[in-house]
Amino acid sequence: MARLAPAAGFEVVGTHARPSRPHELHDWSRLDVRDPFAVHTLVQLVRPAAVINACYDRGSWSAMATGAAHVATASAAVGARLVHISSDALHAGRPEAYTEDDDPTPINAYGAAKAAAETAVAAIDPSAAMVRTSLIVGDESSHQTRFILDLVNRRAEGRLFTDEIRCPIDGSDLAAAVVELVGNDYAGVLNVAGPEAVTRAELGRLIAVRHGHSRRSVPVGKAARSGMVRNLDVKLDSSRAAGLLKTRLRPISEVLSR
Ligand SMILES: NC(=O)c1ccc[n+]([C@@H]2O[C@H](COP(=O)([O-])OP(=O)(O)OC[C@H]3O[C@@H](n4cnc5c(N)ncnc54)[C@H](OP(=O)(O)O)[C@@H]3O)[C@@H](O)[C@H]2O)c1
Repeated sequence: MARLAPAAGFEVVGTHARPSRPHELHDWSRLDVRDPFAVHTLVQLVRPAAVINACYDRGSWSAMATGAAHVATASAAVGARLVHISSDALHAGRPEAYTEDDDPTPINAYGAAKAAAETAVAAIDPSAAMVRTSLIVGDESSHQTRFILDLVNRRAEGRLFTDEIRCPIDGSDLAAAVVELVGNDYAGVLNVAGPEAVTRAELGRLIAVRHGHSRRSVPVGKAARSGMVRNLDVKLDSSRAAGLLKTRLRPISEVLSR
């Protein structure tokens, strides 16, 4: 998003939570969204036209839920356009695809935090856009790709499930869609995921092959036999975004075959 936004006419101020700066592309400020005063101070200093909240800290309710409220409060105080990144993880799973009208039905703490964040953001700033997305596929630094390559290279233990279904999205497609959303006035939840539903196992095989490994190098298994409580079948219907945005949300097999 930071790389794409300048082409859309924005100057970017990025934030990071860990001490080291992520890269040298733009202005970066260290920020912990759990600290409402720090969020307020930075937003008052920058007075941005728009704020994108893509914070992720899986184990931290205060970063993902309360932090989202702090960001929305500070953003609303300067009249900034807010785009909040949400997740398909707030759904329990079912055979039918989920639309924007489906309320959250979380079955784990991460999904509950993402659901709570949406509730807070919508209450504080009803004009905010809340992007529900699915597995984000990027280069080796992205969570999904790194995890799969770690499994393939036996640096991590685990299996990719053949009965867990998602609509993965290319990271650059998602970034382009979010930057586009900054420039319009869509309010509320918007599903922004890939149009192709695949199992985690198939996604792993596509990524493995893309990185020069064989399909068989990916350890697979059934979630139903793992004893874990998982939201198995979570498909996002992104047809509203496809009609609203110029950005084409590509099927993940097309993205990874290039
Ligand atoms: N990855 C997926 O497959 C996926 C799927 C669905 C939805 N999402 C959603 O997409 C968004 C981005 O996910 P991602 O995978 O890109 O995450 P990521 O690569 O882990 O990036 C998360 C960012 O949040 C920052 N952060 C962590 N704790 C913070 C805190 N307390 N205060 C301020 N910033 C903090 C991190 O800072 P540092 O860089 O300093 O660590 C990092 O820049 C999240 O909202 C996530 O819930 C992701």
